[in-house]
Amino acid sequence: MIGTDTPALVVENIVKRFNVASEPWWRKLTRSKNETNGTNGLSRNVGQENGHNQNGGTNNGTPRAKRGKQIVTAVDHVSFEVERREIFGVLGPNGSGKSTLIRVLSTLLLPDEGTVTVFGLDVDKQSMQVKRLINRVSVDAAFFKKLSPKENLLYGARLYGVSGAEANIKAQEILKRLGLRENSYTEPMEEMSRGMQQKVAIARAFLTQPILLLLDEPTTGLDPRSKLEVQSFVRELRDVHDATILITTHDMYEADVLCDRIAILDDGKIVALGTPAELKQRANRNGHEPTLEDVFMQLTGKELVEKEDLSDFEPDKVLS
Ligand SMILES: Nc1ncnc2c1ncn2[C@@H]1O[C@H](COP(=O)(O)OP(=O)(O)OP(=O)(O)O)[C@@H](O)[C@H]1O
Ligand SMILES: [Mg+2]
Repeated sequence: MIGTDTPALVVENIVKRFNVASEPWWRKLTRSKNETNGTNGLSRNVGQENGHNQNGGTNNGTPRAKRGKQIVTAVDHVSFEVERREIFGVLGPNGSGKSTLIRVLSTLLLPDEGTVTVFGLDVDKQSMQVKRLINRVSVDAAFFKKLSPKENLLYGARLYGVSGAEANIKAQEILKRLGLRENSYTEPMEEMSRGMQQKVAIARAFLTQPILLLLDEPTTGLDPRSKLEVQSFVRELRDVHDATILITTHDMYEADVLCDRIAILDDGKIVALGTPAELKQRANRNGHEPTLEDVFMQLTGKELVEKEDLSDFEPDKVLS
């Protein structure tokens, strides 16, 4: 039995590292100075071979990379709590660790350090119980492409033990609620647009009535109307079905209007956490009300090219 005052999600000091192949010597040679200095705007928290990495090497507990490998710290000591019925947003540049974090929260990956509890249950030690409470929708959800949305939904529901009759009614109800045309319920998924497929992915995740829903970029690639439909569906899941939702998005406006609180990730670390209003208040400069996009750029924006690098920049040499 889950206590009513237990937070939906408690994330404590999570670290997730990946061992990836080192850059080949020829790429290191051809890499520009900007990239070496990490000023190319891409987030990649990389430690070098033999453990002498940018994060303090082995001194702060980061393991040594194997020969020919380097360690990428995708999630770097992240802690936060999500209350029940909260819509919690995670924002961050490409490669900042959002999807990795979601995969750790949904028991797909084990963290290297730290603990995660979902309604008081440990995702590592009680993963089977946690799996019954959560569902995750990734930006590239997998389907049986030859089957129709309805068949995919029924398959998903039966996997989770929902009875055939109940699954049928629910699938019909949810597909209608998502604004899918009735004649597309039975078309093969491969003939549907990406936006439509994305809606079916969310519908499938909610068939099992998860109380924590992890949505990784659920509206990426959707047209404005479909985006609004998905957003209102997310609100409904919270308001009517008491779901707690953790969502990642690259749409700052969507995060602003949808999320109760937002964490901004950069290089695997949380660089800000608060309500959209608090974040904007903190970034307020010269009395101008900033947008969430301004906040995001202020906290994570890196100059593409530093001014001093421009002074000795010779394009001909780079291109030759
Ligand atoms: N399976 C993996 N193996 C090796 N490295 C990985 C793996 N998954 C993620 N990474 C690395 O971890 C870092 C974080 O990636 P992640 O996909 O979590 O970022 P993201 O914030 O979701 O990015 P995006 O906005 O592009 O979806 C990146 O440097 C990525 O290359
Ligand atoms: Mg991602």
